[in-house]
Amino acid sequence: MKKEYKVKVFTGIRPTGDLTVANYLGAVEPILNLTKEGIEPMVFVADLHAITDEEPSSVKKFINEIVIDYLALGLNPDKSIIFIQSVIKSQVFTLMSYLTRHITVAELLRVPTLKDKLKNAREETANSFLFLYPVLMAADILIQRAEQVPVGKDQQSHLEIARLLARRFNDRYGDIFPIPKPHKVESLKILSLKGNGKMSKSIPDGAIFLNDDIKSVTKKIKGAVTSIEGKMTEGLESNILLAKGLCKKEEDKIAVDKIVSEHMAGKKVMGEFKKILAKIVSEFLTDFQQCRKKIAKDDKLIKSVLDKGAKIATENANETMSIVEKAMFK
Ligand code: TRP
Repeated sequence: MKKEYKVKVFTGIRPTGDLTVANYLGAVEPILNLTKEGIEPMVFVADLHAITDEEPSSVKKFINEIVIDYLALGLNPDKSIIFIQSVIKSQVFTLMSYLTRHITVAELLRVPTLKDKLKNAREETANSFLFLYPVLMAADILIQRAEQVPVGKDQQSHLEIARLLARRFNDRYGDIFPIPKPHKVESLKILSLKGNGKMSKSIPDGAIFLNDDIKSVTKKIKGAVTSIEGKMTEGLESNILLAKGLCKKEEDKIAVDKIVSEHMAGKKVMGEFKKILAKIVSEFLTDFQQCRKKIAKDDKLIKSVLDKGAKIATENANETMSIVEKAMFK
């Protein structure tokens, strides 16, 4: 059997309704950059993963929303493949079950993300689907025979499980799965505006959501932590990354650099910095929100994008499953 890659870069996104600008810079932009390099990524909405701890009916509401978010952020549907995980649910759950034979209970209990969840007083409530989460993720990747998976720190251990399962399955049944490689993405560390940890939706005052209205964003930025003249702090560094990452105009970038060097020279310019940061963020959000409104109305576009994705994902999944089952049940 020849191991043949089907998909060059493959990634899953969680269907949640409130992306932040940190999600954009950390997770979405790297995918957009791939399409600029001529790579056609396959991106899927992991709605089955989401039901590990959410009610399926509430997950359903967010599926189209996240697709619209990605399209509005600039994911070009002609240069990428987008699908919903549950369109291949029978295939992917079947592969997940087959894969479970090749990993022990003890090994899955050692997965750091599960250990964390159990530690956070979740032991009593954590269901066993949570335990299978990494095996389902392996099935997602292997069923599409993907070559590379962009992974941030939090998903590294999961990708390791996928690699391990691919190797063990191949050892037992022949060269079936390509071993998926991590695709290096430079991870940007965007902090909460309040200076308390990473920007995340769990600290809403310090987070800029893509759907925030401009007034409240300006207020949040005004209230952001600043740094003493002449000093570079982690918070300021993160706000500079934010300004430059979201900035679409060269002259604004130059203005940011100028303010930062004045700050480093000991001048009192943090007020000015916040002003330009607020301007850059507002322009970015206004563009996004206008674009999003248009796309959200275009049911035809969304349907055609998802139909194309479903067709390709299903073809790959069926082909893989036929190879897998021939090898296992021969
Ligand atoms: N677990 C990933 C996350 O929480 C989402 C995901 C599911 C995924 N399946 C995947 C990512 C396969 C990459 C490849 O972000």
